Amino acid sequence: MALKDTIQELMGQVQTLSASNAEELEALRIKYLSKKGEITALFNEFRLVPNDQKRELGQLLNQLRQEAENRINELREQFEAKQAESDRLDLTRTPDPIALGTRHPLSLVREEIEDIFSRIGFTIAQGPEVEDDKHVYGMLNFAPEHPARDMQDTFFVEKEMGVQKPTDVLLRSHTSSVQTRVMTSQKPPIRVLCPGRVYRNEAISARAHCFFHQVEGLYVDKNVSFADLREALLYFSKEMFGADTKIRLRPSYFPFTEPSAEMDISCNICGGKGCSFCKGTGWVEILGCGMVDPNVLEACGIDSKVYSGYAFGMGVERITNLKYRVKDLRLFSENDVRFLRQFESC
Ligand code: DAH
Repeated sequence: MALKDTIQELMGQVQTLSASNAEELEALRIKYLSKKGEITALFNEFRLVPNDQKRELGQLLNQLRQEAENRINELREQFEAKQAESDRLDLTRTPDPIALGTRHPLSLVREEIEDIFSRIGFTIAQGPEVEDDKHVYGMLNFAPEHPARDMQDTFFVEKEMGVQKPTDVLLRSHTSSVQTRVMTSQKPPIRVLCPGRVYRNEAISARAHCFFHQVEGLYVDKNVSFADLREALLYFSKEMFGADTKIRLRPSYFPFTEPSAEMDISCNICGGKGCSFCKGTGWVEILGCGMVDPNVLEACGIDSKVYSGYAFGMGVERITNLKYRVKDLRLFSENDVRFLRQFESC
């Protein structure tokens, strides 16, 4: 083939050169432009061309070489740009931050209660939510027909599917049931805090729910007195609601404590002056308490002549309302992030 035709054919080839990676590109450079390359070979041939054609063919040949170099450089730049792009991709970088959830206000308050009592030697104890009559009522000195059983509006678990009849199995209506579990499995001294969920058959409203949370406290040892109970509760109230908080104990009745009391704290909203929250009294009730009834100790196998104890029980929702002024109980279980996010910084 005449030199001119070869140049034109190669021109067609180099104009459409393509390579899918840097190695293929290098192979093309070698094929056309290296010392033994096809275009270099044409320059050798060119030396034999008659003088009168040298000018035209020389130009064409230079154009061809230029074209080949341009095309190869162009492809090289493309690969280098791609390489730079992937160098920028830092696979060790952490991904976009995951939106973090917030801690539930009831958990925050429960943990705070646990923390306060753990500083005076209380450890955590837990018991089952699905309980039996014995641990929830019987061993806690509730008489068989005691109205408190009704008052608590207990959820009973049906034994046979579809047959509605009260059975021995129930959802615990208070965490006092954990007292009987602990006292039958441990020997005094006992100092436990029992947080947990409880169930009552109540219509759901802003002020009542069919489940809520309590924290029970129990201390059994030799010579435990009502004064010890009062001191522990005063310490708790000051830690939880501030050093200026005052407490008052009013006589009350619970089957499992004797004597029994209800405890009020000075209203932390008005500082005791009287407001709509405390209904003008300056006091708000936060818990029930008392000395463990000797019958309860005996039912759990603890000698009531040697040991005495105190117990108390409080509602976590109630304490949370006082701390964070949540007016509607239903908010606690609706999982509305607009409510929950408000506790982000707590
Ligand atoms: N169990 C009681 C309730 O559900 C609260 C309570 C009162 C617990 C007095 C106690 C106590 O331990 O001594 O409402």
